[in-house]
Amino acid sequence: IMSSRTFFVGGNWKMNGDKKSLGDLITTLNTASLNDETEVVCGAPTVYLDFARSNLDARIGVAAQNCYKVAKGAFTGEISPVMIKDCGVEWVILGHSERRHVFGESDELIGQKVAHALESGLGVIACIGEKLEEREAGTTEEVVYAQTQAIADNVKDWSKVVLAYEPVWAIGTGKTASPEQAQEVHEKLREWMKANVSEAVADSVRIIYGGSVTGANCKELGSQNDVDGFLVGGASLKPEFVDIINARA
Ligand code: PGA
Repeated sequence: IMSSRTFFVGGNWKMNGDKKSLGDLITTLNTASLNDETEVVCGAPTVYLDFARSNLDARIGVAAQNCYKVAKGAFTGEISPVMIKDCGVEWVILGHSERRHVFGESDELIGQKVAHALESGLGVIACIGEKLEEREAGTTEEVVYAQTQAIADNVKDWSKVVLAYEPVWAIGTGKTASPEQAQEVHEKLREWMKANVSEAVADSVRIIYGGSVTGANCKELGSQNDVDGFLVGGASLKPEFVDIINARA
């Protein structure tokens, strides 16, 4: 039996595209037949947030890929949740592995960002995931529980949070976690939520998988009990994203 959790498919465009190519992608998405039981959100580069929101059909959400932990001030180069909302955008991706490991963001900073984004009224796609050496050392659970704790400490309303489990070794590598590997971690995360947050939140929170999701592997991954959708990088820039949105159709 499938859960009552609404399937959630996020696209993470990262630092890719221009108005021409993203405009073409937006036309493809706007004219595609999309499962209307799936929630879809596209993560656009900051400078294209307004463009994406203005051009994407209203049934498709838009997310920023990062934001800062306060509303305004002398923080050159940063953007705030209130600015994201001013563009009509309703989501932000926080704690992505590239923010953690390329830009050195700590659990503490990510927690502060989560708190401020939620207080500002944005939905948050909060990302966690272990590195290859952590998986090989058998510390996957320890790592993802600690990352989740740092997020959970800053969440009051879980209805606005989607948790994205993205093993770092699977991101952009073509090495997708097997459906069993994904399900195992998702199930453990849901048990962790039950023990550390509440049973109601554990039952209702969407836990989505990210890391080399494709049109070819999405159906099997998406049929796992505790996999409630995806966060998609590379394949979200291609027409194949439509097949991923429709993984459960
Ligand atoms: P990928 O990226 O699908 O290109 O592996 C996923 C992500 O980073 O969210």
